[in-house]
Amino acid sequence: MNWEFMGDLQKIFTLLDELEVQTSKRDYPIIWEKVHATSCAQIGRMLAEKRGINVEQAALACALHDMGRWISGRQYEHAPKGEGPVRSFLAEKEGMAEVKDQIVQAVINHSKKDEVGTPLEEIVKDADVLDCHWHGEDIMKPFHMARLKTALEDLGIPYPY
Ligand SMILES: [Fe+2]
Repeated sequence: MNWEFMGDLQKIFTLLDELEVQTSKRDYPIIWEKVHATSCAQIGRMLAEKRGINVEQAALACALHDMGRWISGRQYEHAPKGEGPVRSFLAEKEGMAEVKDQIVQAVINHSKKDEVGTPLEEIVKDADVLDCHWHGEDIMKPFHMARLKTALEDLGIPYPY
């Protein structure tokens, strides 16, 4: 068992519990933030393994990708707003500065679903749309649909629309 990642998830869940008490208005409920962080991490691991990327780095980037929204409660500009809190979260962890920077960049850029970024950024974006799709969210924006189609087909799953 990867207890280090469990520890990270514990920190994330504790933070989200604190934020739930502090913030009254949210675009998404805290339960979704917890579910989405956890399942994106696992989808990220699968994609990372398939694409030859560091699996735990992908899991952590995926788990943290919406931190800007956790803090503000709002979807607007939540990706770049994640930079500060994600940097603080990672500062408490051991690890190379370069890896931490890559995770922070993946968080900042994860809403640019119409652009192709680094392999780690692409995993976060693909895990995000796949998880939203599998949880029943209607993927409406054309470039989100295009990404979902590619991500599903890359896994050998036919695009259902
Ligand atoms: Fe997001």
